[in-house]
Amino acid sequence: MRVLVVGGGGREHAICWKLKKDNPEIELFCAPGNGGTAQVAVPVAVDAEDIHKLLDFALNQKIDLTVVGPELPLSLGIVDLFQAAGLKIFGPSKLAAEIESSKAFAKDLMKRYGIPTAAYQVFSDEQAALDYINSVGVPLVVKADGLAAGKGVVVCRDREQAVAAVRECFQTHPKVIIEEFLTGEELSLMAFVDGTTVVPMAPAQDHKQVYDGDRGPNTGGMGAYSPLPHIDQSVIEAAVNKVLIPAAEALVRENRSFTGVLYAGLMLTEQGLKVIEFNARFGDPEAQVVLPRMEADLLEIMLACVEHRLDQAAEITWSRNAVVGVVLASCGYPGPYPTGKVIYGVEQAEARSGAAVFHAGTTLKQNQLATAGGRVLTVVGQGADLKQAQNLVYAAVGDISFDGMHFRRDIADKALIKSGQKQVAGS
Ligand code: AMP
Ligand code: GLY
Repeated sequence: MRVLVVGGGGREHAICWKLKKDNPEIELFCAPGNGGTAQVAVPVAVDAEDIHKLLDFALNQKIDLTVVGPELPLSLGIVDLFQAAGLKIFGPSKLAAEIESSKAFAKDLMKRYGIPTAAYQVFSDEQAALDYINSVGVPLVVKADGLAAGKGVVVCRDREQAVAAVRECFQTHPKVIIEEFLTGEELSLMAFVDGTTVVPMAPAQDHKQVYDGDRGPNTGGMGAYSPLPHIDQSVIEAAVNKVLIPAAEALVRENRSFTGVLYAGLMLTEQGLKVIEFNARFGDPEAQVVLPRMEADLLEIMLACVEHRLDQAAEITWSRNAVVGVVLASCGYPGPYPTGKVIYGVEQAEARSGAAVFHAGTTLKQNQLATAGGRVLTVVGQGADLKQAQNLVYAAVGDISFDGMHFRRDIADKALIKSGQKQVAGS
């Protein structure tokens, strides 16, 4: 079987790694891939958003299944394009992917179908948005209505910040959403979805802000862990029954039936669970910590989705092990950053039992691994519990270095502090 994975981040490396681990015999390709995917998949020099070139490649190379990692090709209609050419592809159609690519569509859908989310208003007029800020006051959250690689969201604690965020958003997006500011613990729950069949994965927790203690600007994600022992199973069940299943059913009713991975970013508020966002694909870095715990055959589950027989597929079980993933980023990320810095120590990190290194922004430069993006690597550690996994991952991170490298030192601390396995810093 010939499988093409589209994308070139840590998530795609984790997808390639899992597909190949379960099915060593498959012929795997990754477009465009990175320095890490090149170890398990043949690199294809086509960018993820070049969907017509990808179609040509898939037809010429007789690809049996294409798996789409990132949101951009989904929002451009790669799934519709491949299906029209008679090819199998894992991911939602352009219309279904709007649950991620248009926050205004997602918010309106949630409102219509009673899915809990923060109160909000959508604006297409800057002055109306500014008047609204004056009437409701701060804190509030300003979101651009479109894809922004996790960076189109500004949590505003003072009025000046809110005004600046609205003005900036309107420069690049025709619609801006202003949302009620929620507080509580965040979690990510992804599910394999095929129409109204929803098979949840193990939950994970992302760390969006760049600095320890959830400080600083938002990023694409600085680290994640799974499972979440401090979050009650009843919360996860509520997320499936009150969010994921209603969302999948709503999309079917709206003639936007979803096939692929539906991701709910949730906040556990005092009033219960609320949706922060939906994504139409695996989370990054959530995929890097959830896929290593998946005991089922990923290829088989993806084929079951694509062939609309997920309801008959074998049950997915999850390893009892914990996985902690730490993102190593370039100096300056999430702002501008340099590239081409030589990366040392990846082999030592990988040699530790239970550790793995998923590449994101890396490339091979004269046979030397070098940085090529903002998020460079996700180092993961697997252990019998979160403490062991955390110890392992930070030992492995200690093996790796590149000029300007920075990372968070508190990934998984929230769970460890709540379960009494760690003291709050400074106390
Ligand atoms: P998003 O890209 O919509 O997931 O937002 C990125 C991050 O901004 C989230 O993970 C939250 O930490 C924060 N955020 C988004 N919406 C809200 C909200 N309504 N209240 C508080 N924080 C939010
Ligand atoms: N980790 C958040 C995302 O993938 O959007």
